[in-house]
Amino acid sequence: PTIYFITPTYKRPEQIPDLTRLSQTLMHVPSIMWLVIEDAEALSPQVSAILRRSGVRFIHMIAPMPKDQQKKKVKARGVSNRNKGLEWIRENYVDTRGVVYFADDDNTYDLRLFDEIRSVKRIGMWPVGLITNYGVSSPVVKDGKVVGFYDGWVANRKFPVDMAGFAVSVQLILENSKGKMPFTPGYEEDRFLQNLGINLSQIEPKANNCTQIYVWHTQTKKNKPPVKVNETLFGDSNIMTLYQQI
Ligand code: UGA
Ligand code: MN
Repeated sequence: PTIYFITPTYKRPEQIPDLTRLSQTLMHVPSIMWLVIEDAEALSPQVSAILRRSGVRFIHMIAPMPKDQQKKKVKARGVSNRNKGLEWIRENYVDTRGVVYFADDDNTYDLRLFDEIRSVKRIGMWPVGLITNYGVSSPVVKDGKVVGFYDGWVANRKFPVDMAGFAVSVQLILENSKGKMPFTPGYEEDRFLQNLGINLSQIEPKANNCTQIYVWHTQTKKNKPPVKVNETLFGDSNIMTLYQQI
């Protein structure tokens, strides 16, 4: 089965290094379709170059955050991007045995995760490391069945899970034309899974009954954008070209 790996991304100083790391992880993964969707008004040539160099099968699209979201203090980040990816899956002739995974551009993905994703029949879940002060977010498994969740921020959610902690079948996406991600900061995962009509009993526990961490919610330290472009200081290098990479 093909893995449809949906990655939202946006311009910031860490974007190119984060995508370099992610692309070089995906270079080791067979049968993957990488849907890279930029929260931007136009495709970035720097992002494009990373995708082409990787040799990974990809689709590169844009889906800017709606204006009303941009104005909000707490924004629903990556949502228009992920919905664009879902739309692409619905509108194209995809591998109907495939699996869809939402993969933020800054997380760390163990190569063992990909076999787990690929084995999902309808909805699979697994632990995510380095998240909230609990350190991990995970389904609670008893006798091979998911009976609840361990998460640092339950907040009345039916499915208190992180974006990186689940994958769904392409079939499930195709069956639910209304299965979109809402612009509800903090509740995107929960509402998306509820929109798909998921029940607790259907969840397939992965990563050896949720005893292994194969994905980490790493966050790259924020860097200030460079402030001064001094075109005279560089010898053989072109400072403007370097500057455009960050
Ligand atoms: C947490 C969750 O782990 C994310 O899955 C969730 O989308 C996010 O919160 C949220 O809802 O705000 P966090 O590390 O705080 O993750 O968020 P980011 O990694 O900064 O953003 C999530 C994704 O959206 C990234 O792939 C990022 O590149 C993208 N993004 C972020 C945009 O496309 N536009 C933005 O303005 C910000
Ligand atoms: Mn992140």
